[in-house]
Amino acid sequence: KKIAVLISGNGSNLQAIIDDQAKTSDLYVIALVISNRPDAYGLERAKKAGIATLCIDHTDYASREEFDTQMQLQLDQAKIDLVVLAGFMRILTQGFTQHFLGKMLNIHPSLLPKYTGLHTHKRALEAGDTEHGLSIHFVTPELDGGPVILQAKVAIENDETEQSLQQKVHQQEHIAYPLVVRWFCEERIQLIDNRVVYFGQQL
Ligand code: GRF
Repeated sequence: KKIAVLISGNGSNLQAIIDDQAKTSDLYVIALVISNRPDAYGLERAKKAGIATLCIDHTDYASREEFDTQMQLQLDQAKIDLVVLAGFMRILTQGFTQHFLGKMLNIHPSLLPKYTGLHTHKRALEAGDTEHGLSIHFVTPELDGGPVILQAKVAIENDETEQSLQQKVHQQEHIAYPLVVRWFCEERIQLIDNRVVYFGQQL
């Protein structure tokens, strides 16, 4: 399968997928990395791995529709089977999410449905939660609201800081995201009637 990874920043999840791809090389190829920000460090990671990159700077577009249309054009041209959002910080239009329905994943740093949106680590700490984590879900028009495929939990300790919590969650993200990408490419998961259907054994 041909996958594309969409980023806005550091791209540590992209790196985890690049490393996984190197290990499981015949299962999928990372055909394209798109960033909406020219300064995203993830673009360097992709280039170093010899992956085609594209910067589609959202500030060059008058509307979300025009920006999304340009991304869709590029993804369709590259014949992408799976779009992987990895720290991609733009809200996507209904049209774009519909076009890639069942073919687009996102990773969110909270145990959804808790804490959609931003500053999830801070919010979990402030709420006095004892556990936190990440969710990987199919993308639907509802922001951070698509059906969850996999979650991983981390404990919140007494002396936890926002930074230490973020680090713990990141560590788990780097294990979980490549795993779910593999499941998709092996056709073990599918979005059917707004639900995740699992085929075969997962772990
Ligand atoms: C991750 O925490 C992810 O859950 C969120 O954005 C962050 C991206 O980090 N959506 P990176 O760019 O992959 O390092």
